[in-house]
Order: sequence, then C-alpha cells, then structure tokens
Amino acid sequence: MKPMISRPTGPLAGAVAVPGDKSISHRALILGASAIGETTISGLLEAEDVLATAEAMRRLGADVSRSSEGWRIFGRGVGGFAEPGSVLDMGNSGTGARLVIGLVASHPFTTFFSGDASLSARPMNRVIEPLRRVGATFWSRSGGRFPLAVRGAADPLPIVYTLPVASAQVKSAILLAGLNAPGTTTVIEPQPTRDHTEAMLCHFGAEVEPETLADGGRKITLVGQPELTGREVVVPGDFSSAAFPLVAASLIPGSRVTLRNVGINPLRTGLLETLGDMGARITVTNRRVQAGEPVADLIVEASSLEGAEVPAGRVPAMIDEFPVLAAAAACAGGITRMHGLAELRVKESDRLDAIARGLTACGIRVEIGEDWLVVHGTGGAPPGGGQVTANMDHRIAMAFLVLGMACRAPVRIDDAEPIATSFPSFITLMNGLGGRTEETSVD
Ligand code: S3P
Repeated sequence: MKPMISRPTGPLAGAVAVPGDKSISHRALILGASAIGETTISGLLEAEDVLATAEAMRRLGADVSRSSEGWRIFGRGVGGFAEPGSVLDMGNSGTGARLVIGLVASHPFTTFFSGDASLSARPMNRVIEPLRRVGATFWSRSGGRFPLAVRGAADPLPIVYTLPVASAQVKSAILLAGLNAPGTTTVIEPQPTRDHTEAMLCHFGAEVEPETLADGGRKITLVGQPELTGREVVVPGDFSSAAFPLVAASLIPGSRVTLRNVGINPLRTGLLETLGDMGARITVTNRRVQAGEPVADLIVEASSLEGAEVPAGRVPAMIDEFPVLAAAAACAGGITRMHGLAELRVKESDRLDAIARGLTACGIRVEIGEDWLVVHGTGGAPPGGGQVTANMDHRIAMAFLVLGMACRAPVRIDDAEPIATSFPSFITLMNGLGGRTEETSVD
C-alpha cells in the first residue's frame, strides 16, 4: 500500500507529453506477435498492464525485446502460437486478459490465465459466450471469473455476433479469434466503441471492413487467415491519461498547460465534448495522422465550469473518463447528470460506487442510481479533506489526487500503487506542472 496526499495548488503551467496509449500498446504487441517478420514499436506504454501482455506474447512463442531504440517483435504468423508452458498472469488488465483469451481461443492448445484480485472479480462470460461459438472450451470460477483455462478450437468457426454490451474488448476478442478462422467473422456493435483493433488490423495487412449502420451501430467484417506482415507502429499519447492534467488545468484558476502528441480518435474523446459543454477552454492544434491514428496537441486554460448533461450515447467514447469528469463536476457551478453508466460497475473496481463514496468523503453532494450519477457542483473549490479508497483502481486513485489539487483541504488516497498499471509517471508529471502530491502515512 502506498498512501498519498494531494494538496491544494496554485496555477499549473508547462508543456508535457503523456505516455503511450494503453489500448493501442496492447494491440501493437498482439498483432506484432501475430505477424510474420519484424515489427517495431515506438512510444509503447511501459506500464504494468502492457508489460503483462508483452510477457504473454513471449510465452506464446513470439520473440519480444526492448532496446534503447524501442520495442521489436518477431511474430509467429497467424495461427502460429505455441502452448505456453506456464500460467499467463494478466495482472490488473481486463484489456490484456480479454484480448489474449480471444487470440488463443482459435489455437488448438490449452492456456491458463490468472490475475490480481481486481481482475479475478471481473466478468469474463462476455468473452466466453461468443468464443464458445468459435469452438473453444472454458473452465473458470463461478460467473466466468479468473482463474480461467481455455482449450482453443482445433477447427475454429467464423461467427456472426451482435454485442449485448458496448465493449471494445469483447469486439476485439472476437476479431482476434477470427484471425485464425477460415471465412468471414462479423461483429455488430449497437453503439460504436474504440476502433483501434480494426485500424491496426488494417495496418498489418488484414482485410477488415467497418460499416456504419442506419441505426448508428457498426458492422465489422474480417476475412480470416490473412497473412499479416511486420510493421512499424508509432503509439500516440493516451487521451485517457491526458484527461487528468486536462481536467486539473481546467479547474485550477490561472493554469495554462500544453499536452503534446495526444491521440484524438473520435471514439475516445467524448470528454472533450463534455468539458466543452461545461465551458472548458481547450484548443486542439497541430492535428496530424500517425500510423492510422489521429493525433494533436491540446492547449488547456483554466475557466469556470458549469454543470452539464452527459447522454448515454456518449458513454462509450468516454468510458474511462468518468472518475476524472466527476472531479470536474464537483468544482463546476450547478448540477452534472451522467446517464448510461452500468458498465462503470464492472471496471477495475465498481467505479460508480467508488466515485460517489469519494466525492461524499470530500464534502460534495451526489445522488446515485443503478446506472446514473448526479453531482451537485460547489461552483469553486470544494471542501476536500476526504480519505478515499482506491480499490486497486488506477483511475480512481488519479482522479481523487486531481480533485485534491482543486479543493480547499487536501485529499488522501489509501493506495497509489495501482497507478503503475497505466501511468507510472503520473505523480512526477503532475508535480512538474505545479501539483503538490506526496507519499504520506495512513491516518
Ligand atoms: C478498452 C476498452 C474499454 C476500456 C478499457 C480499454 C480497450 O473496456 O474501459 O480501459 O482497450 O479495448 P470495455 O471494452 O470493457 O468497455
């Protein structure tokens, strides 16, 4: 356990680059390992979640190495993985776990998976159910929970599957299983979710076709058993990590911060829209496309925020940003209403519950339902002074450290260790901009 305290700060200033995108990093490793020949990756996120996926690729037989120039993979080719000799420990990572389960579901051997207490509480039935249709067999704890074993299909079937929940992880697991199935695998998503898997499959040479449907959903088709060839991948900065300094600088009067080289895939940037509705002053400049992903620099200046409404339709595009949005809503003038939040209950922790408890501990009034949250903003610095439980959840830990910077009294979190899963340099980066977060003892 690493307790930390975040104290009220003066204006934030500076220009920084946030670390690489977590979602894109997992996919670069997995597709590099599935390709023939050499893949090089620059900007890979070197955090616990992604390193667990790198290790999983090694154990499946890919040659994965890191040098001063970056990461290099010599892949096994589609369908070429070998049975791992030991359990794949996916740590805290739901993305790594679900994507790798999909990958091995169409290989004729058995793979054992484990994870930490947070991952072991998360539902895996959402991938088990479609992957059984591909032909894989599963053994797990009750409710499809980790630890889990998969016997992959010897003759994998291409499936047509409509997602019951908006989940890029489930979509990606099915597409990765479909890589080694003959024929066309089809995934239909009622609400579009991040499309990094589709973009990167294209980049590696697969035939993948996304189609927008009349009802706003998407249909993605993938032609199985392509010959993927090694590529150069450049990973942009993670918008979900940029969200923390973005909100902090919006809240703390007098701040002006530049965030360089941030991925701005529109299926990820729902927070920009929400902060825009709240009156934030964010300029998106220097737009460019890097290895198939849109990238830009973001300039944020403090402004006084007003409460806003977040419609359920926007949730997939900002699914990981609700903890930090809650910090913004706490300081805004008036009420912020967020709808369609059921998925927050099955993240690294029950985030809906964790947000409501944390805000309450900091003197902010909230109302909570099964899938909604209402935050009564204080219209300026909230009281703070709370002790918040991170529940092995990196984004809860970081969001409340951001809130502490904008409150009247410091905010403490019981454990900052989970931050290493996605943003190991978070404290250094925030303190470099003017933050005052440090280790403390437990009260
Ligand atoms: C991710 C998808 C999202 C997101 C997670 C990363 C991905 O999860 O919350 O942090 O990389 O595919 P769901 O697919 O469960 O919504």
